[in-house]
Amino acid sequence: MSGTSCDGVDAVVVCIRGGGLAMRTRLLAHTHNAYPARLRRRLLAAMCPSATTTGEIVALHAEVGRFFAHAGREAVNRRNGGRPPDLIGSHGQTIGHLPHLPAGVATLQIGEPAHIAAALGCPVVADFRQADVAVGGQGAPLVPWTDFVLFRHRRNSRALQNIGGIGNVTYLAAGGDAAEVIAFDTGPGNMVIDDLMRRVTNNRLSFDRDGRFAARGHVLEPVLARWLRHPFFARRPPKSAGREDFGRSFVERELPRLRAASSRAEDWVATATAFTTRSIADAYRRFLPRRHGRLAVDEIILCGGGAANITLRAVLANELPEIPIRSIDEYGIPVQAKESLSFAMLAAACVDGVPANLPQVTGAERPAILGKLCQPPTQG
Ligand SMILES: Nc1ncnc2c1ncn2[C@@H]1O[C@H](COP(=O)(O)OP(=O)(O)O)[C@@H](O)[C@H]1O
Ligand SMILES: [Mg+2]
Repeated sequence: MSGTSCDGVDAVVVCIRGGGLAMRTRLLAHTHNAYPARLRRRLLAAMCPSATTTGEIVALHAEVGRFFAHAGREAVNRRNGGRPPDLIGSHGQTIGHLPHLPAGVATLQIGEPAHIAAALGCPVVADFRQADVAVGGQGAPLVPWTDFVLFRHRRNSRALQNIGGIGNVTYLAAGGDAAEVIAFDTGPGNMVIDDLMRRVTNNRLSFDRDGRFAARGHVLEPVLARWLRHPFFARRPPKSAGREDFGRSFVERELPRLRAASSRAEDWVATATAFTTRSIADAYRRFLPRRHGRLAVDEIILCGGGAANITLRAVLANELPEIPIRSIDEYGIPVQAKESLSFAMLAAACVDGVPANLPQVTGAERPAILGKLCQPPTQG
C-alpha cells in the first residue's frame, strides 16, 4: 500500500484464518520502503494533471509496479523466510481520484501487479477501487469493511481515524452491523503539513517529525477560518478527498495569505496542523450520531503516519476533550501498518468471493467483490 502521502510502500505479512465477517488476522511483519526521492518527486508531479504526460504515466505504472514488487519481496523475506505467500493484495499508488467528473467517478491506481506476481511467484489481487466505481460508488473509502471486521465492539462506539495524506474516519456504533457503519474522508491529513514542510525547508524535511515545528507556532485563526469554508467540509457523506482538493495547488493558492498573516513558518505549520484537527472535530460534530446531547463516540483510535505527530494528537485532544484518544498500536497494529493490513484482508475477501465495499459508505448501488486477480507467469 502507498497512500496519498506518497511517502513509500508499507507492506505487511499477515496470517488470515476464516472469511467474511469472521475473518481473523495475525500480523507477522511490517516493512516500510520509502520511495527514492526522484521517484517520489515524479509521482507528485504526475498527480498534477496539467504537469504530466501520457508517457510519464506509462513509465511510472511499470516503475511503481517494480518498486512494489521489491517492497513485497522485502516483507516476505522478513517473515516468510522468502517462501511465496498464498496471495498478495496490492493497492498501488493513486495518481488521480476524480469523484465529480460530469461523466461519473474516475480513479486511477498505478503499479502494474504483473511485476509483483512475477517477482514473488504468487497471485496478486489489485485495482480494488474499480468494481465499486462500476456500480456507482466513489471507490473510496474501502477500509471500513475491514475496520468493521477488526474493531466492531458490543458496548463501545468507536471512531477509527486514519491520518494519512488525507484524513478518513470509520464510525462503528456499539453493537451495530455492517450496514450501519458510517465512513468518509474528513479532509486533509498530513498533506498540507508535508507540503509546507518541504517548501519551508527547501525539500530537506518532508514532514513535521513528531509535530516539533507546529509545537513552536501559533495558529493563524483568520486563515484557518477561511480554509474551513472549503466546500468539501459542508458536503454530506459519502464523500472522498484527494490531492486535487488539498494538494499542491491548494497550498500554492494559500501561501500568499499565510505570508501576509505571519512571517514564521512555524505558525504556518501550526495552522496546517489545526486545519487537520479542526476539520476532523467539525466532521464528527456534523456527521456522527449523538447520544444524550453528546457525540456518541466512546473512543477514538488513531492510525496512519499522522498518529505519530505528537502535537497533532494533543491539538485533537483539545478539540474533543470528552473523548479518549488511543493509538492503534495499543491494539497490536503499528500505526503505519493498518492500511496495508486492510488491503491484505480485501485480497482474501476477493478470492473468497465476499463483497467488501459498504454501499452506504461509497455511494455504490450494491455490494461488489473488489479487486482483479493477476496470476503469476507459471503456477509454482
Ligand atoms: N513521527 C512522525 N511525526 C509526524 N508525522 C509523521 C511521523 N511519521 C509519519 N508521519 C506522517 O505520516 C505520513 C505518512 O503516513 P501514511 O499513513 O503512510 O499516509 P498515506 O497513507 O497517505 O501514505 C508522512 O508523510 C508524515 O506526514
Ligand atoms: Mg504512506
